[in-house]
Amino acid sequence: MTRPTTLQSSIGQVTLDSYVMNASGPRCSSAEELHLIGRSNAAAIVTKSCTILPREGNAEPRYRDLELGAIQSMGLPNLGYNAYLDLVPELLEHNKPVVVSISGLSLADNETMVKAFDGSDASLLEVNFSCPNIAGKPQTAYDFEQVENSLTRLCSLTDKPLGIKLAPYFDMSHFDSMAEILNRFPIAFISTINSIGNTLIIDPQTERAVIKPKGGFGGLCGQYVKPIGLANVHAFRQRLRDDIDIVGVGGIYNGTDAFEYALAGASAVQVATSFQQQGEGCFQRINDELAALLEAKGYASIKEVIGQLKAF
Ligand code: DHB
Repeated sequence: MTRPTTLQSSIGQVTLDSYVMNASGPRCSSAEELHLIGRSNAAAIVTKSCTILPREGNAEPRYRDLELGAIQSMGLPNLGYNAYLDLVPELLEHNKPVVVSISGLSLADNETMVKAFDGSDASLLEVNFSCPNIAGKPQTAYDFEQVENSLTRLCSLTDKPLGIKLAPYFDMSHFDSMAEILNRFPIAFISTINSIGNTLIIDPQTERAVIKPKGGFGGLCGQYVKPIGLANVHAFRQRLRDDIDIVGVGGIYNGTDAFEYALAGASAVQVATSFQQQGEGCFQRINDELAALLEAKGYASIKEVIGQLKAF
């Protein structure tokens, strides 16, 4: 499929034919789902975060659509990393980058999986430091010492472009501290933000939380989180080395959302909730809307927009 050069971008020096890919999240666990993404207009195929062993995930109900997004506590349902290792060659036949998301339940698990995928033809590795939905496992991204220890170990294990998926931060001092750590490591990119962890939606009729796992606490997604995603992308763009790309995630439903992420500093974006809600047609639609917006504004390329948020 030929795509307009207007939307060409890159992450960690891996070329992307368009600006929008799926996020590690919904509809990317099984071989069928991943091939569907491969056949779509998505810029890359991103796998569900994998663990050492296959997982069924948390008890249901574990996902609920909301007026402006969704709440979820899926619990990492995935096929186990060996299945994704086997899938990489056939996924690459779609002629787009394959991004493997890794979410070990320990540093040792992450080391095992980074080593394994280093020996594969995966294009990019995204280590998930921010899954909020495993009972008893805090999000690594909120433990700065653990981020530093993990990166010390993981960066030495691969020559592939390695990125990390971060949780949202809400304080300028946290952006400063995290960026100071990240700038000391040879990482290729960050993806930000993950869902806002441990939120609670209550149904006043049933007098219950709307999801069951972890007593109802789950990750908030969709339009609710876009201003937080934009802030995290922009704050990190102002603080990270130029060679660390930023993948923007959080509440991207249309071309205008993607354009705003580009202004904030995202080199590409990932889409989760609108993909969950609308299916794989969302990639073509959002890319087309973005291309039309760029043209209407007189931009020849998305690259002219990335990081160009204007100051007052
Ligand atoms: C899940 C949710 C996340 O936000 C994440 O980063 C990884 C996994 C999940 O519950 O499956």
